Amino acid sequence: MTPATATFIPEKTHATAISAGIEAKSTAIPLTLQKPEARYGIMDTVLDAVGWTPMVRLNRLFAEFEGAEVLAKLEYLNPNGSMKDRIGMGMIAYAEQQGLLKPGDTLVEPTSGNTGLGICMAAAVKGYKVIITMPVKMSEEKRRLIKAFGAELILCPTELAFDHPDSYIEVAKRLAQQPNHVMLNQYENPGNPGAHYATTGPEIWQQTSGHLDYFISGMGTGGIISGTSKFLKEQHPTLQVIGIDPEGSIFSGDTPKAYQVEGIGYDFWPAVLNRPLIDEMVRVNDQDSFTEARRLCREEGILAGGSCGCVIAGTRQFLTHLKAAGQLSAANPKRIVVVIHDTGRNYLTKVYNDEWMQEKGFME
Ligand SMILES: Cc1ncc(COP(=O)(O)O)c(C=O)c1O
Repeated sequence: MTPATATFIPEKTHATAISAGIEAKSTAIPLTLQKPEARYGIMDTVLDAVGWTPMVRLNRLFAEFEGAEVLAKLEYLNPNGSMKDRIGMGMIAYAEQQGLLKPGDTLVEPTSGNTGLGICMAAAVKGYKVIITMPVKMSEEKRRLIKAFGAELILCPTELAFDHPDSYIEVAKRLAQQPNHVMLNQYENPGNPGAHYATTGPEIWQQTSGHLDYFISGMGTGGIISGTSKFLKEQHPTLQVIGIDPEGSIFSGDTPKAYQVEGIGYDFWPAVLNRPLIDEMVRVNDQDSFTEARRLCREEGILAGGSCGCVIAGTRQFLTHLKAAGQLSAANPKRIVVVIHDTGRNYLTKVYNDEWMQEKGFME
């Protein structure tokens, strides 16, 4: 891999979209971090199994970078296969705390799939009905999983701008205007970054004993990077946060265009994406994302989604840049925590399907 496509965009180029209100509220979500040992006893519901995901050293993928210790936070081992299990609970808890939800209400959510699944799981436990709107680009596996929970699924055209009346976001907003319907709205809900501030951040801090130099994550709504980084930077102000963005997303300054990676990148700035917390961004193309996801599976035994491949490819670009700048060597070691957002089982018909990879031109 060469760093030819690396794009490092300094923080100052973008005026933040976050409102002070969201920022303040996101630190007060009614979620508490379970003790890790609680996992070995009997749990009240499956929601108690969310979080405390393992952190695993990647031993082979980055072997060429002397001095780099890359640790993977395996969010795909949440019960429903992604870190969005945390925010399904977190946003519902926040809405309940605000008195916005009552038993029997219907939750409506626009999603690339994983948030829908996290909401479906929490809604099943708590007795809410669910309607999911999703761009048609998302995998067949995600459609079937959402339906498995008994949710209503509405597919919308992928290519529409976020504010087009028929986009998956606008369709959800209209549905939510019906009586007893509530849109949790992961793009604006403080419970999204708040869930990561309350759980993902403290877990990483404990698992690394506070010893880490870089935190690297993909960005969709920006919930995980914002909530986790806020907690970690409060403990460790010199920690550097690197956001990984697919080509075709505006976050790293690209013009909006179609891409195949699911769950990350947008054509607008979500309110919960706390841009000032991100020190650098790295832009990655589809092919590198999918190639690295397949390597992660075959060389480290971690079956993860395309956005995780994007994070791995972006990490490789970033380490190449650090090494070239003389900031990484055996004498100058660095510890890097990367997020493995979701399970590769969501993409068996895509990233892990040779025919699909060849048809799209990602593989010979
Ligand atoms: C597969 C996948 N990876 C990464 C992300 C990004 O997470 P966030 O929305 O917290 O930025 C998402 C969000 O939907 C996702 O589905």
